[in-house]
Amino acid sequence: MGDNGAGKSTLIKILSGVYQPTEGDYLFEGKKVLLNSPREALAMGIATVYQDLSLIPLMSVWRNFFLGAEPEKRFGPIKGYDIGFAKRTVREVLAQMGILIRDPDQPVGTMSGGERQSIAISRAIYFGAKVLILDEPTAALGVKQAGMVLHHIVRAKQRGLAVIFITHNPNHAWPVGDHFIILRRGRVLGDYRRDELTQADLMNLMAGGEDLIKLQQELEALLKQPQEAVGETAHVQEAVGAS
Ligand SMILES: Nc1ncnc2c1ncn2[C@@H]1O[C@H](COP(=O)(O)OP(=O)(O)OP(=O)(O)O)[C@@H](O)[C@H]1O
Ligand SMILES: [Mg+2]
Repeated sequence: MGDNGAGKSTLIKILSGVYQPTEGDYLFEGKKVLLNSPREALAMGIATVYQDLSLIPLMSVWRNFFLGAEPEKRFGPIKGYDIGFAKRTVREVLAQMGILIRDPDQPVGTMSGGERQSIAISRAIYFGAKVLILDEPTAALGVKQAGMVLHHIVRAKQRGLAVIFITHNPNHAWPVGDHFIILRRGRVLGDYRRDELTQADLMNLMAGGEDLIKLQQELEALLKQPQEAVGETAHVQEAVGAS
């Protein structure tokens, strides 16, 4: 967890082999690893769903799903894309995740944000991920769709996958998390197991704790200044609901 610019995406790019760390050790299943590319991470079972999802909007659901891992079928001496298998599988896999697609030929771009996240997540699980890294999967979603993504996280966890869920929303992290790490400006601000803190603590940490108190004091001081001296005060008073 962490505010904008805290280094969350940078950290997961290191975990997924996009960037190489300049210091520290990266241990996977107890062994030190050096990853030179996302392909190497994937081969070890570390699958990442990036903030931009890496889905192609104009392409159909099934093509997106199997992009880079197209199932093949032999027609005598000729090999071809097994489209029937792809369409059937996509429908089945998504149905298992509780998503009923009208038509596997539907372009991904016509689906909701939550459905797109679900496709990206189910693809990672289908291709045998052991670790699933999700970069702010709920950020652009409404309550109901975010709920759908949180369900996927819990199901993946129940299947034995390790899930690294990046978010800046403590209300999304708390119900699904076992371990919370808060980043700020590229550093670890806090590292807690679930039984070491409360939801309120997490909210406070994310809100910036001391920073929030300082902001409140600054605003109060501003409100105490004479009206004519500060033209903006009336707006500020309105915005914070003071009388
Ligand atoms: N390739 C890069 N070169 C230099 N600086 C970078 C690069 N990528 C990111 N940064 C900087 O590193 C900091 C952390 O960025 P990062 O994208 O990891 O943040 P984040 O926690 O994912 O934020 P957000 O919540 O906005 O997604 C930012 O200040 C960003 O501008
Ligand atoms: Mg980010």
